Amino acid sequence: MQQKPLCQLCGGEVQEFFDFGRQPLSDRFVAPTSTEPEFFYRLAVGMCEACTMVQLMEEVPRDQMFNAEYPYHSSGSRVMQEHFTQVARRFLETELNGPDPFIVELGCNDGVMLKTIAGAGVRHLGVEPSGSVADVAAASGIQVRKDFFEESTATEILTGDGPADVIYAANTLCHIPYMDSILRGVHTLLAPNGVFVFEDPYFADIVARTSFDQIYDEHFYFFTLRSVRTMAARHGLELVDAERLPVHGGEVRYTLARAGARQPSAEVARMLAEEEAQGLTEFATLERFASAVESRRDELVSLLRRLRDEGKHVVGYGATAKSATVLNYCGIGEELLSYVSDSTPAKQGRLTPGSHIPVMPPEQFRSPYPDYAVLFAWNHAEEIMANEEEFRAAGGRWIGYVPHVHVV
Ligand code: SAH
Ligand code: TYD
Ligand code: ZN
Repeated sequence: MQQKPLCQLCGGEVQEFFDFGRQPLSDRFVAPTSTEPEFFYRLAVGMCEACTMVQLMEEVPRDQMFNAEYPYHSSGSRVMQEHFTQVARRFLETELNGPDPFIVELGCNDGVMLKTIAGAGVRHLGVEPSGSVADVAAASGIQVRKDFFEESTATEILTGDGPADVIYAANTLCHIPYMDSILRGVHTLLAPNGVFVFEDPYFADIVARTSFDQIYDEHFYFFTLRSVRTMAARHGLELVDAERLPVHGGEVRYTLARAGARQPSAEVARMLAEEEAQGLTEFATLERFASAVESRRDELVSLLRRLRDEGKHVVGYGATAKSATVLNYCGIGEELLSYVSDSTPAKQGRLTPGSHIPVMPPEQFRSPYPDYAVLFAWNHAEEIMANEEEFRAAGGRWIGYVPHVHVV
């Protein structure tokens, strides 16, 4: 773990605006028999006074997070599968229609997006360091390099496969502190008129919804158009398009091209002006966010304590990485939630990091249903509530905490 008082992008001073205290690794589910001490770090977030990039104050070494044990499988949500099928189709229509096109995806995970590209017979490469999911992608016939993408990786890919028409990263770029190396790599690998497209949680949505659970070890950066534009310009790249996405609680898909290669869309200017009006870079906004986080914690904890005192059976639903911040920051343990239901086999039978609540398969949730379930996978609310219709029919109630604490 390294102390990091200066901006990873520009060397400017990072002004801290929230400290969650000691936190465990968000995706390190603990075996009940484990005697190994858990890894903890200080989770705090700040904004660079020079380039406005919001970032964690401390970095967790990448091999601690992304390795053969990494449990997150992107294909676990039907809605996300559909989302990535659409992304792939759009690339095939608009960017990968020349002779022998080539696409590189950073963080391809289990191949949720690239399977459509591979199915279309288009040249592709997924770069994925986590063996658990890289192996799943490779087994389904996708070309995968089990590795971290960085500048040296990009040089090797260029030598072996030539330039990329599209470089794509979903929910991955924000995971990577060493951005200079990444963007030098992108600059090296991108074809002259190629695009670098990435989608990640949008800081404006995090502030608007006080979705503080987006802040955890793996989410190192929290992008805005303004900070992305500055970051791109340092590497000869230009922000040429942006698009809001409803997935994962509010994201933006950014399109970068070589400076001058493409005409920026009107949407870029419109969204930049919108950000300015929201006062996203003003310290008063960040202070308001900080006090909203504290009130949210207090409201959630008092609701759960009241339900416990009334003898209700309350569980969690979705052992998300996001829930690690909620559970550990709010001090919620097994005395308030008897278990967390999750469909991921690699998480089941283990304990949530730090808070040590058992993770159980959805079958347990259904027999018998609890009285209340805290929806930690609130970004998949529609899909989960539709899957679990019978829970409500049986008198069960969902507890949500974004954008405020509520019972459905
Ligand atoms: N794109 C998928 C996966 C997101 S999870 C989706 O949107 O669902 C983030 C992924 O990034 C993990 O699979 C992790 O192993 C991978 N990752 C982390 N650092 C990386 C790097 N330097 N290069 C490529 N992938 C990386
Ligand atoms: P997600 O919110 O996508 O990501 P993160 O871990 O980054 O916060 O995680 C969703 C989790 O919820 C994942 O562990 C799978 C689980 N899940 C279910 O248990 N049932 C479902 O129907 C869905 C869609 C997800
Ligand atoms: Zn900076």
